Amino acid sequence: MNKPGHIAIIMDGNGRWAAKRGLPRLAGHRAGTENLRRVIRAAVKFGIPYLTIYAFSTENWGRPTDEVQGLMHILEDVIDKELTELHEQGVRLRHIGRLEQLPGALREKVERAMEITRDNSRLTLCIAWNYGGRDEIVHAIQHMLQDGIQPAEVNEALISQYLFTAGVPDPDMIIRTSGEMRISNFLIWQAAYAEWYVTPVLWPDFDEEELAKALVSYGKRERRFGRLSDCAEGNSTDAA
Ligand code: FPP
Repeated sequence: MNKPGHIAIIMDGNGRWAAKRGLPRLAGHRAGTENLRRVIRAAVKFGIPYLTIYAFSTENWGRPTDEVQGLMHILEDVIDKELTELHEQGVRLRHIGRLEQLPGALREKVERAMEITRDNSRLTLCIAWNYGGRDEIVHAIQHMLQDGIQPAEVNEALISQYLFTAGVPDPDMIIRTSGEMRISNFLIWQAAYAEWYVTPVLWPDFDEEELAKALVSYGKRERRFGRLSDCAEGNSTDAA
């Protein structure tokens, strides 16, 4: 069965999970964090080499201050408490987004975690934190101009090298939990040919079994990358 080499996840539905239980939103984010631990273990178990998670977007700064601070605290807590296990599992941590805009102490923790795990190769976990797809493209263009790149030198491969995800293969499958049918500024360049899997399951409930279902769905897809399918008669006009 075809297996995705890179899965990216929009971990949506923490707030609704909490609201259904009469709990504050941060309780939903904590349950989502617990679930993230399970999904990372499952990804290692299923032999997925790249996992990217959308944890804090450039737009999430617009949420109430206590939620923003709570999320920053959760990230700090995860690094403090989970780094040893992640390292033992062979997880390499990578951050994508604007690290420089995070509080200094948190930024240093993230940098240290990446340094400690840099030689691990079982699973590369890209944490999109203070990440926005459009912002990533703006950042890439700024750096290309700073580097004096000439118009004729610009091509798709070069742009990819200037993105936060440089060196990471494009996602094969993007999972969005909680049923929303939106890209939400996530990996907008890299998602060009990703297969989407949208499930009504809220993120804190998206466990190993749900990930396995997504993998089965992916295994049945035929990826054509704009070409015709292997068995097509040559009369298709489908551009996908
Ligand atoms: C979306 O649900 C979720 C988020 C904006 C935060 C996701 C963050 C975590 C799970 C924290 C763990 C991550 C790391 C890397 C430590 P929502 O709040 O928009 O849900 P709603 O749409 O139901 O309100």
